Amino acid sequence: MRIYAATEADRDAIWEIFHEVIAAEETYPISPDISRNDALAYWFQSGAHAYVAAQRLGFGGKQEKPIVGAYTVHPNQAGGGAHVANAAFIVAKSARGRGIGRALGEHCLNEARRLGFRAMQFNFVISTNEAAVKLWQDLGMKIVGTLPGAFRHPEKGYVDVHVMFRSLL
Ligand SMILES: CC(C)(COP(=O)(O)OP(=O)(O)OC[C@H]1O[C@@H](n2cnc3c(N)ncnc32)[C@H](O)[C@@H]1OP(=O)(O)O)[C@@H](O)C(=O)NCCC(=O)NCCS
Repeated sequence: MRIYAATEADRDAIWEIFHEVIAAEETYPISPDISRNDALAYWFQSGAHAYVAAQRLGFGGKQEKPIVGAYTVHPNQAGGGAHVANAAFIVAKSARGRGIGRALGEHCLNEARRLGFRAMQFNFVISTNEAAVKLWQDLGMKIVGTLPGAFRHPEKGYVDVHVMFRSLL
């Protein structure tokens, strides 16, 4: 697997995975009806650095898609808050549980540090998203606050949301 800065050619793959994630309505507070344009405008927002994870394809591996995950890292706030990064991660459902999310997370923290950010903040980690909560904790992110019932899960109803933070210094 290779992680590299996303190019124009990767936009379709990012949209495909993003759409799959958002359509499930379980992990991001984003309308499942979001358009491709709005999704990509969010992903490539001003100040964003976007990356994709590509898997190696086997011989004649046309049946497998090369891009299996992506992340975008950008300032969490403007002005006096711009030294704290925020990031979003997506891994294709068919490729989860194989270490891609972890590799993207580690890459992102290193990249954020390299870009000069002093800290990383995740604003909306839904408590029922066990894979994400566990992975981010493994990567040193701490739950610094919990918003009671801040997300309406399609099956579980109103569930808590964590704000997670770590220094990059
Ligand atoms: C969260 C996400 C990025 C993780 O990606 P992934 O490639 O499946 O993660 P990995 O295979 O690298 O697993 C990393 C760790 O997550 C945890 N994990 C993964 N799947 C899990 C599951 N089903 N239940 C509990 N923990 C799980 C494990 O701790 C795992 O570490 P381990 O392999 O040492 O056991 C992926 O599930 C995803 O894209 N989900 C939808 C979008 C999303 O939730 N983004 C993050 C929003 S905060």
